[in-house]
Order: sequence, then structure tokens, then C-alpha cells
Amino acid sequence: MSRAKFVPFFVLSCVAFVYVHCAISAENAVKINSCVQCHSKLPASSFYGVKSHGWIGSIHQRKGIKCNDCHGGNPGAAGEKEAHTGVLGSSDPHSTVYFKNIPATCGKCHGAEYYKFKQSVHYQMLESTGRGPECVTCHGSMVTKVLTPDEMSGVCARCHNARMGILPNVPRKAKQVLLLLRESKALLAADKQLHPAPRSARTAQILNGAEVDLHDAKLDWHKFDLDSISNYLLKFYDTTEKLPPAPAGH
Ligand code: HEC
Ligand code: HEC
Ligand code: HEC
Ligand code: HEC
Ligand code: HEC
Repeated sequence: MSRAKFVPFFVLSCVAFVYVHCAISAENAVKINSCVQCHSKLPASSFYGVKSHGWIGSIHQRKGIKCNDCHGGNPGAAGEKEAHTGVLGSSDPHSTVYFKNIPATCGKCHGAEYYKFKQSVHYQMLESTGRGPECVTCHGSMVTKVLTPDEMSGVCARCHNARMGILPNVPRKAKQVLLLLRESKALLAADKQLHPAPRSARTAQILNGAEVDLHDAKLDWHKFDLDSISNYLLKFYDTTEKLPPAPAGH
């Protein structure tokens, strides 16, 4: 193909598949991924279209994690049948995305969260009764979100309510703890702005410590240990208390 012909084609295809195709062209010009290529053309009105388009704009798309990383298959094959070798629908118990298998699929890359999750009562429930929240419940199928505090308490209230009598105060507490986590993240961002780089070694060390506390709090969400999350967040506040006053001009 001559260069003159190639350029208009490239521009057109970028318009057609906007995000996906352009990201692929820029990032992965050598290795075209057939899953993304073909699925980006499926109509948004179809079930499969809706499901696959959810990936667009997600953290995974931005970090180069493709369909096959979660679904398997052969992204080097152009034909649907060949590409789908090993790809199974979510209702098949052998599928990587069958609800009971999702934590292990995500856990390939997110070992720390998976490890915590396996320590929870809810993991045992998922294994035994097939009920209970798992990764997709809180992050969405294509990991495009984290639940808001209200949504989170709604999910917990499916079982933790007065009628069922299982720890009915959990939803309220979950909401409070998630609000606190959000607040803490905002505080850390503000502290970083108040102490712009270059920072003194002491300030850098404190901010680093606060980051670690926050990380530990996030991690313990995966064990559903609301008390432990609160404790890490209290530790976070203690750590940031040690920050020196903001430098002049801020
Ligand atoms: C040439 C087009 C094409 C390619 C390439 C392709 N798919 Fe598909 N895929 C489809 C269509 C069309 C469907 C809708 C269901 C059907 O008709 O089989 C589908 C369905 C699916 C489903 C749902 C399966 C089910 O049974 O519910 C998954 C998951 C999936 N594709 C993932 C992938 C992955 C991962 C790749 C790359 C390894 C890929 N697809 C490559 C066209 C394609
Ligand atoms: C981070 C992992 C991950 C990535 C990346 C990912 N998916 Fe999925 N996908 C899932 C999970 C988990 C489900 C099942 C979610 C559920 O049960 O709601 C799913 C469901 C689907 C379904 C519906 C299948 C069914 O049988 O219900 C299709 C179609 C699909 N994905 C296609 C794609 C395509 C195409 C891409 C790439 C553009 C992609 N997925 C990227 C994790 C992923
Ligand atoms: C093939 C590896 C891989 C798989 C499988 C995978 N992820 Fe990821 N995920 C990543 C990478 C890489 C990032 C970006 C991390 C970063 O930049 O710190 C990420 C980011 C995330 C984030 C956001 C983290 C942040 O810093 O904001 C969440 C939440 C997440 N993944 C959840 C999931 C869930 C849920 C699944 C299963 C449905 C899954 N991931 C499957 C590799 C993977
Ligand atoms: C009860 C809801 C819930 C479930 C279930 C859940 N998560 Fe999370 N996850 C969260 C919350 C809340 C955060 C923190 C989000 C934030 O930063 O605001 C988070 C953050 C993450 C992050 C980013 C961590 C970081 O340091 O930025 C990853 C990765 C992740 N989850 C993966 C998973 C995986 C894998 C599973 C399944 C094994 C899972 N999550 C199940 C609620 C959940
Ligand atoms: C499908 C039902 C179900 C959902 C949804 C659910 N739980 Fe649970 N949860 C249970 C059951 C059952 C127990 C065990 C109660 C017992 O041992 O008496 C439990 C126990 C707990 C415990 C006690 C600590 C432990 O590990 O023993 C906490 C905390 C908890 N859940 C938090 C949550 C949070 C937070 C949510 C929402 C993100 C949630 N749960 C969603 C059913 C559920």
C-alpha cells in the first residue's frame, strides 16, 4: 500500500473505532490484537457488543491488558472460530470468567488482593454456596469503576439486613468506612500539593508512610475487615499529622 493511500485509511479507521483502534495503532502497531479489532465492530446494541465495549477507557485498556488476558483465546488469529479457541461464555463452569473462577483469573495479576480475599468468609461462601460478593461485584465486569459508598452499602444489605439477621449494621459501617477512605485519598492528594517536589527528606518520608497506610487500608477491603480498614486510616491520619507546616506561598 502506498503512503498516500495509507494515511486516509488510517484516519478513517481511527474515526470508526475511535479509542480502541487509535490506542492499538499507537501502542501496539506490530502486534494487532484480533479480539479488540473484531469486537470493536460489534454493534453496541447487542449483548456481546455492550459487554466488550465496556473495556474501552478502563484502567486495563490504558495499561495494555487485553481481552485475552482475562478470557484466553488466540489474539493472533483473524478468524472468529480460531481466535475463540479456549474462550468460554460466563455461564460455563470451566470459563475463566465463570463467577466462581473470577477471583483466580484476576488473582493472576492481583495476587495481594486475591490473597486477602481468600481469607474472607465471603470467599468460602462463594466456593460452597456460590453466593457472596466477588471482584466483579465491586469493580464491574470490565473494571471500569469502584462502587460508590451508597452502592457499596446496597450490595452488603442484600444479605446484611434485619430480615436475614446477619450482622445488620454492616451496610452502614461499610458506607462510613468507604467515605473515610475517599476522604483520606483526597487529603493525601491535597498534602502532596501543599508540599510540592522537591521535598525535604523528612517530608518525603512522611508522605511515603501515608501512602503505605492508605495502600494497606485498600488492601483490607478485600478481606471485608472494616475494623482493620478503619485502623489503617486512623494510622494514616496520625502519619500526616507529622507533616511540617506548608512552605511559604501555599
Ligand atoms: C472475527 C471476529 C471475532 C474475533 C477475532 C473474536 N471474537 Fe469474540 N465474539 C465475536 C462474536 C461475533 C461474538 C458473539 C457470539 C457469537 O456469535 O459467537 C463473540 C463472542 C465472544 C465472547 C462471548 C462468548 C460466549 O459464549 O458468551 C467472548 C468472551 C469473546 N468473544 C472473547 C473474544 C476474545 C478473548 C477474542 C480474542 C482472543 C475474540 N473474542 C476474538 C467475534 C469475534
Ligand atoms: C480484566 C479482565 C477482563 C478484560 C481485560 C476483558 N474482560 Fe470481558 N469479561 C470479564 C469478566 C470478569 C466477565 C464476566 C462478567 C460478568 O459476569 O458480568 C466478562 C464478560 C465478557 C463478555 C460477556 C460474556 C458472557 O458470556 O457473559 C464478553 C462478550 C466479553 N467479556 C468480551 C471482552 C472483550 C472483547 C474484551 C476486550 C475488548 C474483554 N472482554 C476484556 C473480564 C474481562
Ligand atoms: C494480565 C494481568 C491482569 C489481569 C488478569 C487483571 N488485571 Fe487488573 N490491572 C492490571 C494492571 C497492569 C493494572 C494497572 C496497575 C497499575 O498501574 O498500578 C490493573 C489495574 C487494576 C485496578 C485499578 C488499580 C488502580 O491502581 O487504580 C483494578 C481495580 C483492577 N485492576 C482489578 C482487576 C479485576 C477485578 C480483574 C479481574 C476481573 C483484573 N484486574 C484482572 C493487570 C491485570
Ligand atoms: C467489597 C468490594 C470489593 C471487592 C469484592 C473487591 N474489591 Fe478491589 N477494591 C475495593 C475498594 C473499595 C478498593 C479501593 C478503591 C479506591 O482506591 O478508592 C479496591 C481496590 C482494588 C485494587 C487497587 C488497589 C490499589 O492499591 O490501588 C485492585 C487491584 C483490586 N481492588 C482488585 C480486586 C480483585 C482482584 C478482587 C477480587 C479478588 C477485588 N478487588 C474485589 C473493593 C472491592
Ligand atoms: C450473599 C450474602 C452476603 C453479602 C452480599 C455480603 N455478606 Fe458479609 N457475610 C455474609 C454471611 C453469611 C456472613 C457470615 C455471618 C456469620 O458468620 O455469622 C458474613 C460475614 C461478614 C462479616 C463478618 C466478618 C467475618 O469475616 O466473619 C463482615 C465484616 C461482612 N460480612 C462484611 C460484608 C460487607 C462489607 C459486605 C458488602 C461489601 C458484605 N459483607 C456482603 C453474607 C454476605
